[in-house]
Amino acid sequence: MTGFQTFYDFGSLQRFISSKPSISNVGIVPTMGALHVGHLSLIKRALNENDLVVVTIFVNPKQFNNRKDLENYPRVPENDLSLLRQYQGVVACIPEESDVYPKLDPYPGITLGMLDRVLEGQYRPGHFKGVAHVVHNLLYFIKAKRAYFGLKDIQQLSVIKRMVDETRLPVSIIPCETVRDDSGLALSSRNLLLTESDYTAASIIFKTLDFVRKKIKKEQPEVVKKKATELFNSGSLKLEYLELVNKNTFEPYTTGDVNGVCCIAAYCNNVRLIDNVLL
Ligand code: PAF
Repeated sequence: MTGFQTFYDFGSLQRFISSKPSISNVGIVPTMGALHVGHLSLIKRALNENDLVVVTIFVNPKQFNNRKDLENYPRVPENDLSLLRQYQGVVACIPEESDVYPKLDPYPGITLGMLDRVLEGQYRPGHFKGVAHVVHNLLYFIKAKRAYFGLKDIQQLSVIKRMVDETRLPVSIIPCETVRDDSGLALSSRNLLLTESDYTAASIIFKTLDFVRKKIKKEQPEVVKKKATELFNSGSLKLEYLELVNKNTFEPYTTGDVNGVCCIAAYCNNVRLIDNVLL
């Protein structure tokens, strides 16, 4: 393939793909930019499984329920493109909002049910509606065969799987492991907004999740949740929720559930962080 390319609309990306007979499998890594090692691990996995990997960078206004959060979301496109440039077989796609949401919008809408009522659904009203919509349109217009998403956003993953099932898009959703730093903090674009002392304080998230993972086989879920909340509150972050649920339905966890997950959302100063571990 020739040098690294960036496309600013879906039409030119499609023309590029059609002009390359050697490309039969396209993988997509949808992002909102501010790329980090976690994104790079999705890209490497996608490169192993596809002829071409399209990394989309689009800060989706529809999924922000808070204007300040949208304004503050880190945007470092030059840095993102220089990170992507190092990979053979990767192209960037930075579409305009009018391209992602055209007048004749192909998204039929789906029912999110419980997924939109608890945890992230409860605390970020409208967020998953916006995520389902944007991911649908990116997959629809880019026609990828496989799409890669991090397990850090596990509820988002369930929403996307449901959207793909309901709309019957011909794409496989590939979940990928969360990448953590040495303290256990999950990598996230929002970490760019943390100060050095915030970083140290934020390690309480993974410490608490790890505590739950170790205790849950021996004690009742309510007891573990109470102790874990106390442990979390011994740090300086402000807890929004700490919940044990089933990772597919997001119904409350019951002892012995092999699909259990513990999810945390918390504020580190003004930065909202989420994370989870499978139980
Ligand atoms: O996880 C994200 O970065 C976003 O929610 C996604 C999937 C790119 C949709 O905008």
